[in-house]
Amino acid sequence: MATQDVTPLDVERIRADFPILEREIDGQQLVYLDNAATSQTPERVIDAISDYYREYNANVHRGIHQLSQEASIAYEEAHDRVAEFVGADGREEIVFTGNTTEAMNTVGYAWGLNELGPGDEVVLTEMEHHASLVTWQQIAKLTGAECKYIPITDEGYLDMEAAAELITDDTEMVSVVHVSNTLGTVNPVSELADIAHDHDSLIFVDGAQSVPHQPVDVEAMDCDFFAFSGHKMCGPTGIGALYGKEHILEEMEPYSYGGDMILKVTFEDSQWNELPWKFEAGTPNIADGIAFAEACDYLDDIGLERIHRHGQQLAEYAYDRLTEWDDVEVYGPPGDDRAGLVAFNLETTHAHDLSSILNDYAVAIRAGDHCTQPLHDVLGTAASARASFYLYNTREEVDALVEAIDEARQLFA
Ligand code: ALA
Repeated sequence: MATQDVTPLDVERIRADFPILEREIDGQQLVYLDNAATSQTPERVIDAISDYYREYNANVHRGIHQLSQEASIAYEEAHDRVAEFVGADGREEIVFTGNTTEAMNTVGYAWGLNELGPGDEVVLTEMEHHASLVTWQQIAKLTGAECKYIPITDEGYLDMEAAAELITDDTEMVSVVHVSNTLGTVNPVSELADIAHDHDSLIFVDGAQSVPHQPVDVEAMDCDFFAFSGHKMCGPTGIGALYGKEHILEEMEPYSYGGDMILKVTFEDSQWNELPWKFEAGTPNIADGIAFAEACDYLDDIGLERIHRHGQQLAEYAYDRLTEWDDVEVYGPPGDDRAGLVAFNLETTHAHDLSSILNDYAVAIRAGDHCTQPLHDVLGTAASARASFYLYNTREEVDALVEAIDEARQLFA
């Protein structure tokens, strides 16, 4: 669908779904622009959690009684729903994890420790989030493998010529962020998947910042692994998902042992349960898993194409307004080619001070390195301020952001 054909969101109606947006900070209406860190939660997702605890709270896969049956069915069906949301084949390909980081670690430990060794290479990008960068860096240390990084261009895109040179027959894993949480760059992950597969490498895509904001189809993308988190897509904290191609997950050994991940246990040995339970040891996060599926329903009911377009428009508007000032540096691609966030610095004001001043105006942004310290080294700064948008944000809120920034500019001029 061409983006210009997408029906605009009815933002006022959507805002009514989110009770927290009524919040005032010191008598001023909250302007929440920290959605890349965590998004807010609609009433029906909150209800899904409380319904579980009020009506059918019981352990899954461990009881014959009615409540356990109901909880087990809802928890299993949540896997089907999340699978459908990202275009996976079914629950066998979706492991629930605590978050994107835990999904990365699952593959790092379960696949990386067994498959990597001296002479092997893991290719990442300079714009990786710590979730993948630190995981692969440490797994490489444990196995003797080496990490290499695809550089970024001055505009904040991946240098694809360098990528084609860095990914070689020594590469065993390419791990790349789909949408940069700092630059707003949308990476050509299908193209990278083709390059990786031409060299018999696997590819892991970090979808923490893409799945909440745009339609994602892991099969069309042809990634081998994909990870995302519930709390950035209107779901609860403490729940996320690892997608893996079924035949790869089937061959992988689990790294976390205990209850529910086994079929049969003797004093000498154990046999693993079927997918995805083989990778979900112990009592899982049942309530939040069920609410995660409710968040998928919520986003689908509104429409990911529409949400995507809305976020892009707000980011472009914010980019255009901020770049009117010579003393503001905005990082990443041009305003009309970025995801729904803008990271920037004022010449005169540290990002932490700026965020603190904006807080006086009830404007919530993130300041710091956004879990991308090495990328900030490349950008030549220790920290940046970041405004990140979602389906309930308005142009008026971008104006409030810009006005509050202007107050800070005057203060430090
Ligand atoms: N990765 C999250 C962010 O970008 C926490 O803020």
